[in-house]
Amino acid sequence: MDNAASLPMTQVKEPPRGDSQNPAIPIHQASDTSMASIITDAFTQDHHACDHRLAAAEACVGRGDWSDIGTAAEALVSAMNRHFDAEEQTLFPRLAEIYRVAANPIEVMLSEHAQMRVLFEDLTEAVGRQDRDTCLGILETLHFLTQQHNSKEECVLYPMADGALKTQAGEIADLLAHG
Ligand SMILES: [Fe+2]
Ligand SMILES: [Fe+2]
Repeated sequence: MDNAASLPMTQVKEPPRGDSQNPAIPIHQASDTSMASIITDAFTQDHHACDHRLAAAEACVGRGDWSDIGTAAEALVSAMNRHFDAEEQTLFPRLAEIYRVAANPIEVMLSEHAQMRVLFEDLTEAVGRQDRDTCLGILETLHFLTQQHNSKEECVLYPMADGALKTQAGEIADLLAHG
C-alpha cells in the first residue's frame, strides 16, 4: 500500500488489475516501489531546508542584529528562488506535459510563487531600510504562505509527479542537489 498512500488523489480500493483506466499513474507496479517517492522526498527535504532558513531569518530580526539579517535574508531568498526555479522550469512543465490533470493545481502553485517572489523583494527592501516591523511582518506572511503552499505540493503534486515521471525522477531531484 506504500505506492497507494503516496497518491492521495487516486482512490485505490482493490490491488492490481483495474488500473488500465489510468495509465498515467501506474500505481500498482511493485517493481517501482523504490522509485516511488524520489521527487517527493527531494523536494520535501528542500522545503525543510528553506523552512530552516526562514526560521534563521526570523531569529535574526528578533535579535535586531542587522549585520546578520542581511545575510540570513539573502540566503532565504536565494534558496527559495532556486527551489521555485526547479519547479517552474523543469518539474511542473514536465508533469503538465505528461499528466494534463495537473495543469490547474500547477497554475495555482505558480501564482503563489509569484506572490512570494514579490515578498522577497519587499523583504530585501525592508532589510535595506532596517525596518524591523516590516521585516517581521513579511517573514510571518512568508511563513504562513509556505506552509500552505508546501503542504499542497507535498500531498498532491509531488506524489503525482513521482507517478508520472518515474524515468526522470532522479534527474529532476538532482536539480536541487547540484543546482
Ligand atoms: Fe512551489
Ligand atoms: Fe516546492
